[in-house]
Amino acid sequence: MSQDQWGAVDDYFVSLLVPSDDARDAALQSIVDAKMPLMNVAPNQGMLLHLLARSHGVRSILEIGTMVGYSTIWLARALPADGRLVTLEINPDYAAIARANIERAGLANRVEIQVGPAIEALPKLSGPFDLVFIDADKVNNPAYLEWALRLTKPGSLIIIDNVVRSGAVTDLNSTDASVQGTQKALAMLAENPRIVSTALQTVGSKGYDGFAIALVTE
Ligand code: DHB
Ligand code: MG
Repeated sequence: MSQDQWGAVDDYFVSLLVPSDDARDAALQSIVDAKMPLMNVAPNQGMLLHLLARSHGVRSILEIGTMVGYSTIWLARALPADGRLVTLEINPDYAAIARANIERAGLANRVEIQVGPAIEALPKLSGPFDLVFIDADKVNNPAYLEWALRLTKPGSLIIIDNVVRSGAVTDLNSTDASVQGTQKALAMLAENPRIVSTALQTVGSKGYDGFAIALVTE
């Protein structure tokens, strides 16, 4: 099994099941144009986020880590017309690109981008949110999850991106702060009696990665 094969299978699935969309394509192109790292979710992963939000009747979404707004577009398109999405982005250049992408997608009325460190924005937010997507720096994942737990309610979903760390997530002696942040966040899910959760490894056009998905219960 190789990256070429994973990519070819993703391309096949996406060509069959993920309709093309000018606004999403433009958002992906904006990453290339700005020479940014390719940290976007894959199209079929974006569709998974969309399906989770839509099938769960989600009306309010918090996204931690906007980048160019690609996953933002996927998630916001799952909202009803009166739904809202708040997305937090530390990098003002990324946020400006995201704003243009979200406007192009016709979602500006549903999406609020807050520019600055998420760790400073989170205490000022009022929830509850029906879905939180944690996809920023991995070092702060424990703090982001702590806030996600405070800003959600029974029935809310919390999704954490990039929990595999190329497999290093199993290394309990890791000195990598992103690995440690991911391990701590997973331990917080495990220890919380209000949380039912799982984590999945993925391969595909984005390589080897994975998500954690958690449901807040009573
Ligand atoms: C990285 C971050 C992401 O959110 C992602 O989806 C892929 C990679 C990174 O920091 O390398
Ligand atoms: Mg990510």
